[in-house]
Amino acid sequence: MIKKMKTIFVKNYEEMSEKGYEIIKDVIETKEQPVISMTTGGSPRGLFTLLVEGVNNGLDISNTVMMNLDEYIGPKNAVYTVNTFMYENFYNKINTQPKEIFLINGEADNKEEEINRYKEVLNAYPRDVQVLGLGTNGHIGANEPGTPFDSTIFLAEHDDSTIESTMREYNIERDEAPTEMITLGFTEILEAEKVILLVSGKRKSEAVKNLLEGEVSTDCPATALRDKDNVIVIIDEEAASLLDEETIK
Ligand code: PGA
Repeated sequence: MIKKMKTIFVKNYEEMSEKGYEIIKDVIETKEQPVISMTTGGSPRGLFTLLVEGVNNGLDISNTVMMNLDEYIGPKNAVYTVNTFMYENFYNKINTQPKEIFLINGEADNKEEEINRYKEVLNAYPRDVQVLGLGTNGHIGANEPGTPFDSTIFLAEHDDSTIESTMREYNIERDEAPTEMITLGFTEILEAEKVILLVSGKRKSEAVKNLLEGEVSTDCPATALRDKDNVIVIIDEEAASLLDEETIK
């Protein structure tokens, strides 16, 4: 099996968050104009807490450009949007702001135009880091099962399991939950110099098994990352619980 991506096995969510933070902190401290593209949701919450602490204790982000992987289609200030998450968990909590903040506008009337606008941002700011979470169905961003591995930023429809994850994460009912989002495709995701995939918890264990031991197939979108040497997967014990011993060695 070809596997070039790097795997880091850690004990729990806290250790996963710390490892992720160490990598990002190093990039912020060493690059002249670091460009960091984040994800939102349960997986990176701990990492954001550490980043807030870091920035408020002197980690200098004045030259850092921040952006995001995706955005739900819906009102900008809805509880579930990437915009809301980023302000509540990061921008409103730090005592100094990054050089630039880019977000996809999920309430834009013309989605095509918004995609093209963000494409220009992506072209202007090659990413040093792209942070990712893993869907229970193996999705990456909103690249759901069946998405071709050469996808580029597009308007995606969510699978049912993704809608359920959003309901769970933001404590909302099905009729309030978004069903579409604009997401980077694998092409832009893998263009980042470092891609960090954060995976924690039992509910991710099957997706992790498919990612590391299954066929490379669009049935498990995350397998698009397997033979890429710029990808670092940080996996905790619960998420790794279905893996063969050989894989963990
Ligand atoms: P989570 O979601 O980080 O909230 O578990 C990951 C994902 O579905 O992409």
